[in-house]
Parts: sequence; C-alpha cells; structure tokens
Amino acid sequence: MTIWLPNLADRPGPKYRLIVEAIGEGIANGSLTDRDRLPTQRDLAFRLGVSLNTVSRAYAEAVKRGFLRGEVGRGTYVRTGGPLPADEPAAHMTRPKDGPIDFSLNLPAAGQAQAALAAALGSLQATTALASYLDYQTDGDQVRHANAAAAWIGQLGLNVSSDDVVLTVGAQHGLMVAMLALMRPGDVLLTEPMSYAPVKAMARHLGLKLHPVAMDAGGLAPEALDAACRTTAAKTLYCLPTLHTPTTITMTADRRQEIAVVAQTHDLTVIEDDVFGFLLPDRPPPLAHFAPERTVFITGASKSLAPGLRVGYLHAPNQYRRSLRAAVNLTCWMPPPLMAEIASRWIEDGTAQRLNAFQRSEANARQAIARRTLQGHDLSADPFGFHLWLPLPPHWRADAFRVAAERRGVKVLTAETFAVDQAAAPQAIRLCLSHEATQERVAEGLAVIAALLQEPGDAGVLVV
Ligand SMILES: Cc1ncc(COP(=O)(O)O)c(C=O)c1O
Repeated sequence: MTIWLPNLADRPGPKYRLIVEAIGEGIANGSLTDRDRLPTQRDLAFRLGVSLNTVSRAYAEAVKRGFLRGEVGRGTYVRTGGPLPADEPAAHMTRPKDGPIDFSLNLPAAGQAQAALAAALGSLQATTALASYLDYQTDGDQVRHANAAAAWIGQLGLNVSSDDVVLTVGAQHGLMVAMLALMRPGDVLLTEPMSYAPVKAMARHLGLKLHPVAMDAGGLAPEALDAACRTTAAKTLYCLPTLHTPTTITMTADRRQEIAVVAQTHDLTVIEDDVFGFLLPDRPPPLAHFAPERTVFITGASKSLAPGLRVGYLHAPNQYRRSLRAAVNLTCWMPPPLMAEIASRWIEDGTAQRLNAFQRSEANARQAIARRTLQGHDLSADPFGFHLWLPLPPHWRADAFRVAAERRGVKVLTAETFAVDQAAAPQAIRLCLSHEATQERVAEGLAVIAALLQEPGDAGVLVV
C-alpha cells in the first residue's frame, strides 16, 4: 500500500493549511478516494519534517471541512462526500432513483462534482481573500477569471486572449446578453428550423422575428442561409454547430467554412452556441475560428461541470465587446464572483478536465445502451452526445407517442418544442440520456421506448 504524502515544496503559507489544501486537492483530482487511510499524525509529521502539532491542527481542520473522518483506534480516513453526510446527494445534482424516467432534460450526469465542490470550498476557506468575493468586483478583479475562461475556450479549439472574454451567468444569460447587445425590436434572427427552445422565448420577449434556415444532413445549409439573408435582410444568425439540439448534427470544418463565407458576404453576425462542444474528443474548430471578426462564441459550465454553478463564458471581437459588457451590467451587474472563482479553480487545477472526461465517458456508455436497445430504428446520435434524435415510424404521431411514453413512466420532448415553425415540425422525439441517475434507469426507459415503437401507434387501439 502506498502512503499518501503531500508535496509541500515551493508552496507559500502556513504548513498546516498547505496540508489541508493538499488533502482537498487530492480528493478533487481523484488521487484520494473515499475510505483511503491517511498516515498517522506522528508518521506524517516525521515524513514531512514538521511538528506533530502542525499535523494535528491540519487533520482537525480537514475533519471540520468534511475531508476526513477519524475513527477511534482505526485511523483517519478520507471522506469524498465533503461536508454533507455521505449518503446525501448534492442538492444541484439530485436525481431521483425511482419514479418517472426523465429523458426530457439535457443535463450532465450526476457524478463527481460534489466532491470537487467540497474540495474547492475547503481550499477557499483557507485563503485570506474571501472578502473580495463579497464585494462588487472591478474589471481588474475579473482578470483571473477571464484568464481561466480563455484557457478553457482554448481547449475548445479557439485561441483567444482573456481581453476578449466576457463572463456571464451561464450560457443562457450569454445568449440573452448577445441578443440585447446586438439586436433591436423588429430585427430578424436567423436560426436552424429546430433550435434551443428558450431562444424562441427570448426572441419573442425582445420583439425579434425568428426566421428558420433549412438544415441538411450536414447541418445548416449554406445555400439556404444565403437565400434567407437575401430575402429577409437579417443581420444576425443564432446556431448550434456542435451536437445541435435536437438533431445531434455536428457541422464539419468544411461546412463551418462555407457558413462563414456566407456570413462574410452578407455582413452577418453569428451567435455560436457551443455548450456541448467539450463532449467531442475530436471536434472541428468552432465556427468562430472561421469567422472571428463577426462571431460571438458562447459556452458555459452547465453541461461540462455543474448547472448550479451558473457560469458562462462569451468570446467576442472587439467591435461588440463594449455593448456586450453593458448588457451584462444591465441584466445582472456581474456574475457572482464566488461561482466564477470556483470554476476558475477547477479549470486551473485540472478538476474541470476530469469532470469533463467523466461526462464524456458516461455519455459514451449511455449512447452504447441506446444503440443496443433501439437497434434497427432510424435514429441520429453521436457516440459522445448527451441526447439522441428519434424520427418516429409512420404509425406514430410525436405527441401521441409522448403521451403514451409518459403514461408508462418515461418523459420525452417532441420536435414541436424546438421547431420555429411548429406546423412544420417532423414526427420525432428527443431523448436525453445523461440526466438520469443510473445507466440501469436509462436502459429501463429505452426499453419502454423500444416497446412502444413496435406498437400500432395512435392509429391503433393499444395506447393505454
Ligand atoms: C443548447 C443550449 N444552449 C444554452 C443552454 C443554457 O445553458 P446554461 O445553463 O449555461 O445557461 C442550454 C441548457 O440547457 C442548452 O441546451
């Protein structure tokens, strides 16, 4: 058995606090797991060359923060559940283990974010600068967060400077901010014919006219975009080039280049939603890479880290940044600094990458279950996506299927939810696989869907 020994070299600060931080980091990066036993206090003091008192103080502090639990006569054990009782799920990641199976919500799998949060809160307590998270922050204060955001966006394939980053309260806020800053009532917003549903509501509230642009098997069709620009004189496009919801299509690099050329020809501003981009191990560069001078690139922590963080990152060329920042100030003054700090720490210390890798592999496993269970059906899915898209056989109308599935305890959404022109919505449903508590529940829900597909549909009498 290897003995856990923190490396405290070159770290400033009191030794006891460094030991606590090292325990928190070990939990966050997975090198310390639940039930690992730490060395005795005397042994650790000897190995680190510090006093017994220092280690005693560190262990006591780590117990207080929920990193450790002491068992009299048995030693000191790691507790990855953090400050919550071990069997209590983190509130933001609570997923029912019984009751209806919910394939309607496109959220990440509950996983290791709780332990990461416990560790981050623990190491935050050890800093002396807590008060700075309680004040309005200056642009200067936000530089660290913008640096972390730029590093994160870099991993998504876009090399950016932190000066070009605007922090938002999640990606949805980023979308609202972009529309507020760039558009005026009566303007036309081009979008895929089916799109992220809240964009439809936002456009309605802001008095924008949504205009659908046809997609083909490769995503948004360049000729259709060109025609829409000519007929509507639109100046803004909202699109989801990577793991489009609901269809799951990811545009190739060539397709992105073609869309960028059309955007340049018509002086179109592009609002690119990239909330799912982190899932693809081999993703094409963002559309913003091909049209950097006119693209507002939006991503967030909800799918990749945890939805309750409410952290979003927006990257935009200089010409838009002033009005984007003004729209952030207008709508929320600033994102909560504490939440931005947690996301920044996760990006800096590798926790974010670890949480992403977990989402990717969990999504991959759940998609494999779907491929097996729905074999022979005409579905679209990416092996690493959260959702899949299921066009229904001719004997089923989407809404009747949704009602029938719900009666059997499985919630789904139909194409109508996403369609800009609801009358043109195809008979198809979207199934989100990541939100459910376990792979077993995913398999169970998919078996219900597979069975329903075989039934006579709303043309028959078996829908009970
Ligand atoms: C396509 C898409 N864009 C944006 C968002 C908003 O994300 P956030 O929770 O970061 O506001 C979502 C969340 O469901 C989404 O599915």
